[in-house]
Amino acid sequence: MISKDMAKQIEGSSAIRAMFEEGAEMIARYGKENVYDFSLGNPNVPAPAAINEAVKEVVDSEDPLVLHGYMLNAGYEDVRQTIADHVNKLHGTAFKPNNIVMTVGAAGGINVFLRTIIDPGDQVIAFAPYFGEYNGYTSNVKAELVVVPPDTDTFQPNIEEMNSLITPKTKAVIINTPNNPTGVVYSAETLKKLASALEAKQKEFGTDIYIIADEPYRELVYDGVEVPYVTKFYDNTIVGYSYSKSLSLPGERIGYLVIPDEAADSEKIIEAAGVATRILGFVNAPSLMQKAVAKCVDEEVDVAAYDKNRTALYEGLTEMGFECIKPQGAFYLFVKSPFEDEKKFCDLAKKYHIIVVPGSAFACPGYVRMAYCVSYETIVNSLPEFKKLMEEIKSMK
Ligand SMILES: Cc1ncc(COP(=O)(O)O)c(C=O)c1O
Repeated sequence: MISKDMAKQIEGSSAIRAMFEEGAEMIARYGKENVYDFSLGNPNVPAPAAINEAVKEVVDSEDPLVLHGYMLNAGYEDVRQTIADHVNKLHGTAFKPNNIVMTVGAAGGINVFLRTIIDPGDQVIAFAPYFGEYNGYTSNVKAELVVVPPDTDTFQPNIEEMNSLITPKTKAVIINTPNNPTGVVYSAETLKKLASALEAKQKEFGTDIYIIADEPYRELVYDGVEVPYVTKFYDNTIVGYSYSKSLSLPGERIGYLVIPDEAADSEKIIEAAGVATRILGFVNAPSLMQKAVAKCVDEEVDVAAYDKNRTALYEGLTEMGFECIKPQGAFYLFVKSPFEDEKKFCDLAKKYHIIVVPGSAFACPGYVRMAYCVSYETIVNSLPEFKKLMEEIKSMK
């Protein structure tokens, strides 16, 4: 028999997956070209060719006993050196291999860090709308996820609201920029405000409050937008990076944590993160992929393809009267539902074979998320269907 907690997890299980499954059913019934499935954030731009080359090179050149063997839980020293050097080059930081812990994607990294710092009953803050999986990650360590309501004008984090929710039990604040589901990049001004608010609260309560900067979309940005590096604003910042989106490798499960020396208790945290990696059952991040990404730190996916989709979908939908913020990064559009109950909108959209995810899955009802990591044809062919959908909605009002 499964645990009561798991039963709860299954019940609350991902609305995104549910919509994806409905999309798969529709595709079987109507054909792929007649279904517009915007449910899942699965990259449709292939990984750079250099990844396959790197995998071959690693397999051909590495000692198999090293490549396929156990290693330090934090990962290969040479890989962590390469990544530290790369991050330092990009952001003017001074990380050493010791500050890098290789992880099983961003999801693995966040789980490792939460396991490192959380005692049952501690609180973790997230800003709505947020990636719904944070519910599961915090529940894994018996933490309470405290949700800051959204600022729907800008979708920047609402710092004033956050301030009123911080308590002595607050151990971490998770931020995600570029953001899933809004595509918004948190500005330097926001990060400065966030940092000074947290510094004041740390002082007031005599506690350490860590920012977890969840950054799988760091490289997917448009119009030359800068994504500020959060460690520069606040000492107690832990960065969770992933190659799932930046190199289109979500199935390979590879990423890393940055734990700066400036973070409170950094030595202990680095040691504990290695142990957490082991006892959570990851043991270490996938060895072949560690070596392969280290050879590809300068590689990029074709962001222009996502940009083309972004522009076509944003312009097409806003012309029809849909309301949304133009995303600055990631590959999601967060659209205001024409009905207060966005699930009604999701249901009506299905009539036109359009699959979108309700904003309540991101703690932001009244909106829907569209993942535009689909083919350009899907975007173009979906627009007449969106038009019919909008006409039906207008006729209902
Ligand atoms: C905001 C956010 N964080 C974390 C993840 C998990 O990423 P990974 O596949 O690297 O575990 C995702 C994946 O979609 C995400 O959107």
